[in-house]
Amino acid sequence: MREADAAAIAEAAALLRDGRLVAFPTETVYGLGADATNGNAVAAIFAAKQRPRINPLIVHVTGIAEAGQHVVFSEAARCLAEAFWPGPLTLVLPRRADTPLTLLVSAGLETIAVRAPSHPVARALITATGRPLAAPSANPSGTVSPTRARHVAEGLGNRVDMILDGGATPVGVESTVIGFDGDRPLMLRPGGVPREAIEKIVGLLSAPETGGPITSPGQLSSHYAPRARMRLNALRAETGEVLLGFGAKAEGAALNLSARGDLAEAAANLFAMLRALDAEAEAIAVMPVPMTGLGEAINDRLQRAAAPR
Ligand code: TXA
Ligand code: MG
Repeated sequence: MREADAAAIAEAAALLRDGRLVAFPTETVYGLGADATNGNAVAAIFAAKQRPRINPLIVHVTGIAEAGQHVVFSEAARCLAEAFWPGPLTLVLPRRADTPLTLLVSAGLETIAVRAPSHPVARALITATGRPLAAPSANPSGTVSPTRARHVAEGLGNRVDMILDGGATPVGVESTVIGFDGDRPLMLRPGGVPREAIEKIVGLLSAPETGGPITSPGQLSSHYAPRARMRLNALRAETGEVLLGFGAKAEGAALNLSARGDLAEAAANLFAMLRALDAEAEAIAVMPVPMTGLGEAINDRLQRAAAPR
């Protein structure tokens, strides 16, 4: 682990240009980065995470101009990028025929997921590397996503060439992934930009047809899985459980996602608290979290963590 100062970012950029893997902070979670134009480097991401090769990666860029070298923007997509980039929004758009991105990054699909992160370390790293960076969350496939550099070291350790430490990631859940069926915008994964904010710009979001080609292949029902059993919408802990609270009335909670009932605070705490409780208990009971705003992404991650494995 290296503190993400200017010297460390320059070294990390040199490693990336050389085809190596670097974990770095984004505003959502830590990413496991590689040069998205280098097939061997991107293959190394899949190997390090033990990620199925059919699950495509997000390509991280500096903004709309750079993304436009790789994908074709519709009017609606451009409006969304203008509203939320840099930030926790990923757009799945048609791949340009002349993009230098390796086919492996999108698992052979005709579309590519692009996002411009807002975290200063992520932005500095993309700029210093001078390449688009493929980066999934920096954790072994199926486990809880990392929101601290230490989480990356615990999960991937020596399988990554450098870990840039930029502290706790401020948003705490992954980016919202939006795709399109013709002109119809689809919610492929709830995340750091709430549905309501997106719908203000492009109108109501549809759910993708399950099993259809536009469904995000990464949306497996069991994901983000701690070792402990999980029980959701719990009002108290039963014998053998620890309680993960939300809100002011969380008597007996071992930890509280947000005592003042703030969903942004709860999202930022979610993965670190799941890890902490997973280390000390066999079963975790979680209090109800409202479905509004960031609550949709929080509940999505909780449901996946609780899904049968
Ligand atoms: O916040 C984030 O999005 C983090 C940080 C590191 O940027 N990254 C992240 O990556 O969460 P990952 O690989 O864990 O999730 C990427 C999601 C998956 O659900 C994947 O299936 C979907 O994006 N995706 C990527 N390319 C796609 C495509 N061409 N079509 C449909 N879904 C795609
Ligand atoms: Mg992930």
